[in-house]
Amino acid sequence: MGNRRYLEELNKDSTREIFESFKKLPANQLKLIYNTADWAYINHSEFKAVYDLLRPYFNKKLRLLDVGCGDGRFLIPLEGKFRLYGLDFSKSFLREVKKHCKSCRTIFGHAEKLPFKSDYFDVVLSVRLIQHLSKKQQQNAIDEMYRVVKPGGKVIVLNYNSMSALNIYKKICQSKTPKFWPFIKWRWVIDEYNSPSELKAMFKRAGFNRIRTTGCTLGEPDVLRLTKISSFLEKISRKIPLKYYGLCERLESYVKSTPLANLMNRVVIIGGK
Ligand SMILES: C[S@@+](CC[C@H](N)C(=O)[O-])C[C@H]1O[C@@H](n2cnc3c(N)ncnc32)[C@H](O)[C@@H]1O
Repeated sequence: MGNRRYLEELNKDSTREIFESFKKLPANQLKLIYNTADWAYINHSEFKAVYDLLRPYFNKKLRLLDVGCGDGRFLIPLEGKFRLYGLDFSKSFLREVKKHCKSCRTIFGHAEKLPFKSDYFDVVLSVRLIQHLSKKQQQNAIDEMYRVVKPGGKVIVLNYNSMSALNIYKKICQSKTPKFWPFIKWRWVIDEYNSPSELKAMFKRAGFNRIRTTGCTLGEPDVLRLTKISSFLEKISRKIPLKYYGLCERLESYVKSTPLANLMNRVVIIGGK
């Protein structure tokens, strides 16, 4: 097996393992991660970006597939608005989705080989999945999303932006991080971010038309979280990060309407078939 292939295989196992281990964390530890001002901001910002794009299509008769749905962060609030399908390669996540979203069909499978017939879905969504795939796998996954969406349908993909401040932080971590590195280390074997133009090229290759990109979340929240600055601030007073992220939210809607959107932490791409 070639080195790249080996890494890709290893990535599948290690990514799944990290996610599975995450699910096994005791509730109090999960609370420490999710009950923070920075997570609330990031979650809200990503959700708003996707929700705003989906809103025009709300229709109980339309089929929506979430590829790499995780624990249903996006599916659960969409219950009743689409006929929902969630695909993931983590069975424990799929069980979690089913617990909270009874009408959602959960499917165990791989993003690079979607177990659905062609032209089946009206909308395909995928949030924060493709960074766990190598560039070649990313193209395969995007090709597959194109295959399963109906003509006239839409595919929305959200991924980390390689043009963001977070990517600089990641590159520092991935280079020879000194032993005394006091901040959170990078644990993913493959963590592929994309620039808006790179994603556009991938969508074009897959066959999409009417392609456009937007962004969401300003760069700092992730960096503040990874450098543990935000948890330090929260310890002093929760009001400080809450105020700060409140400002970020307001600034974000302005940034989105400018070319600076290309530097936001996440890139969101929409393609039509
Ligand atoms: C960062 S999580 C995002 C989950 C969810 N979309 C969200 O935004 O909350 C990535 C998800 O993709 C799944 N995943 C990663 N690689 C996958 C693959 N090749 N095929 C299917 N699912 C995959 C993981 O199990 C995990 O649930």
